[in-house]
Amino acid sequence: MSSLFERFDLAGIPLDNRIVMAPMTRSRAAGDIPNEMGALYYRQRASAGLIISEGTPVSRQGTGYLYNPGIYGPDQIEGWKKATRAVHERGGVFFAQIWHVGRVSHTTVQIAGAAPVGPSDQPGGMAFGYNEQGTPDMLKASTPRQLETCEVRDIVRDFAQAAVNAREAGFDGVEIHGANGYLFEQFLNPGVNDRDDEYGGSRENRCRLLMEVVDEVSALIGAHRVGVRLSPFGTLFDMPEYDDNGETYLHLAREFNKRGLSYVHLHDQGGQGMAPMPREYLRTFRDTYQGNLLLAGNLDQAEAEKLVNDGTIDLPVFGRVYTSNPDLVERMKNGWPLAEFDPSTFYGGDARGYVDFPTYEEEQARKARQALIDEKS
Ligand SMILES: Cc1cc2nc3c(=O)[nH]c(=O)nc-3n(C[C@H](O)[C@H](O)[C@H](O)COP(=O)(O)O)c2cc1C
Repeated sequence: MSSLFERFDLAGIPLDNRIVMAPMTRSRAAGDIPNEMGALYYRQRASAGLIISEGTPVSRQGTGYLYNPGIYGPDQIEGWKKATRAVHERGGVFFAQIWHVGRVSHTTVQIAGAAPVGPSDQPGGMAFGYNEQGTPDMLKASTPRQLETCEVRDIVRDFAQAAVNAREAGFDGVEIHGANGYLFEQFLNPGVNDRDDEYGGSRENRCRLLMEVVDEVSALIGAHRVGVRLSPFGTLFDMPEYDDNGETYLHLAREFNKRGLSYVHLHDQGGQGMAPMPREYLRTFRDTYQGNLLLAGNLDQAEAEKLVNDGTIDLPVFGRVYTSNPDLVERMKNGWPLAEFDPSTFYGGDARGYVDFPTYEEEQARKARQALIDEKS
């Protein structure tokens, strides 16, 4: 049998198989509170070895899109309990992706119309807020306000509280969202981070915020319950290229080695039409990072098996195919065809394109019933 369907020990947390569902924002949580429909969505996908939740903001300040379920208020913790219970009832393992968007936000999403915050006042990215007519819309992110040094420390506290909240909500661990042009990447990137305090300048200083969050969160919930997502060479949301990009992430890998984290999760943005992460770099990262390595970005089963079998990665992560294939594990295991995903229902809307994709077996049963009806008529 393929190695993808073997059990895996994720730093002490047993997984039924090696298939991971990627974090995916689906923008269906009214009032930013996780709901029953979201719980059903995750329950349907719980045969994955590991599910990483959609990005869940650690504060209103860290929110860049309407209808994202957060993890900072009591109603949100209660809401998430429905989803974690649903996944656990099916024997799944569930991490919360904890998230601060930094500059990628809009004044209409922030408290009292405040400016978003970032390492500098340099704008970038697109947010989902209200347009001038008061209608929800994709909008150019508002110009951010540069964070004061003492405010950076407040953000560390927000992540620490979010991790504690995630534990209370029943999650098995958290993934710190250090990828895709959001807050941590804005600090890592010297093209955006022009600070002259201890959070800017040298490589160590640009990595400081992420490392402080990793350490604080690990102290509270245990390093073996903490994963980090990174996107080396990522350019999403107007992130400029810079010379020591590769080295910056290798520096992080060496720091993570000292801490015994649950995993590092790399996102190759190449599949999303951005510059790809070079495959030689993936090997270099693998050779540097000694813990569990996850990879997302346009993987199919054959590629995932190859990368696992040759030791390049430990766990493959699947995104878009998980939107339309709740039973992805069973489909891959049995060689059943995959249902095509529908980008028009990725973000926002209702149950359609969210919880109405059947499993392969449900679809076959429906077809058989229809054939009977057709035969009789
Ligand atoms: C609808 C959608 C929402 C996404 N939301 C998030 C998110 O909340 N956090 C994150 O880190 N990545 C997010 N991503 C990126 C995915 O996690 C994944 O890395 C990407 O889709 C590449 O994997 P794939 O080629 O298998 O789809 C999202 C992608 C999609 C398609």
